[in-house]
Amino acid sequence: MKGLFIVFEGIDGSGKSSCMDSVASEISKTQRTIITAEPTKGEIGMLLRSLTETIPETEALLFTADRSHHTQEIKGWIDDGNIVLCDRYYASTLAYQSAEMNGRSVDTGWLRTLNDKVIIEPDATFLFDIDPKEGLERVESRGEKSKFERLGYLKEVRANYLKLAKERKFIVIDASRPKEDVLADVMSHISKLI
Ligand code: TMP
Repeated sequence: MKGLFIVFEGIDGSGKSSCMDSVASEISKTQRTIITAEPTKGEIGMLLRSLTETIPETEALLFTADRSHHTQEIKGWIDDGNIVLCDRYYASTLAYQSAEMNGRSVDTGWLRTLNDKVIIEPDATFLFDIDPKEGLERVESRGEKSKFERLGYLKEVRANYLKLAKERKFIVIDASRPKEDVLADVMSHISKLI
């Protein structure tokens, strides 16, 4: 039996990663489940994390190169019958890299063309939608701020995500609710897919 590919997207502080872990604990009781994430812990993902200075196009190429390798692994896991849960995929590049940072952004058309060549379309993508102000407060309370976490920038990332969600039929989850309610909502969608 072929598996499934389910992606969790959203700005930092949206709760997507902890929800994905809870989903994995739940479904792994009955299904073979693999959890994975981008940027990966492979060579290109580690290179990305180690860069101190870069230009937006280079960064976009590296995120996409990392994804190209990762997609080969994901295909194998799906073919082996696993349910693959992935924290971030191509929508992260389209939403983040096309938003303006320090007066620069990457051309959306170019990002789409690049990514469309390397991705497979997930069976479902959950977009954890939250007001960036609330997301930032959560991130700050964990002491984990990165350069991607400025308010104006995240507002644009959120708008990009919501546009994509409409276009590519993502499941938009109201992530401002208590995490038990968010998990129940996500599980109700996943149980229809399994
Ligand atoms: P993480 O905090 O979910 O591990 O992601 C690391 C950061 O990388 C996050 O702030 C979003 C950013 N990112 C992009 O800008 N583009 C991408 O394609 C990916 C996968 C992540």
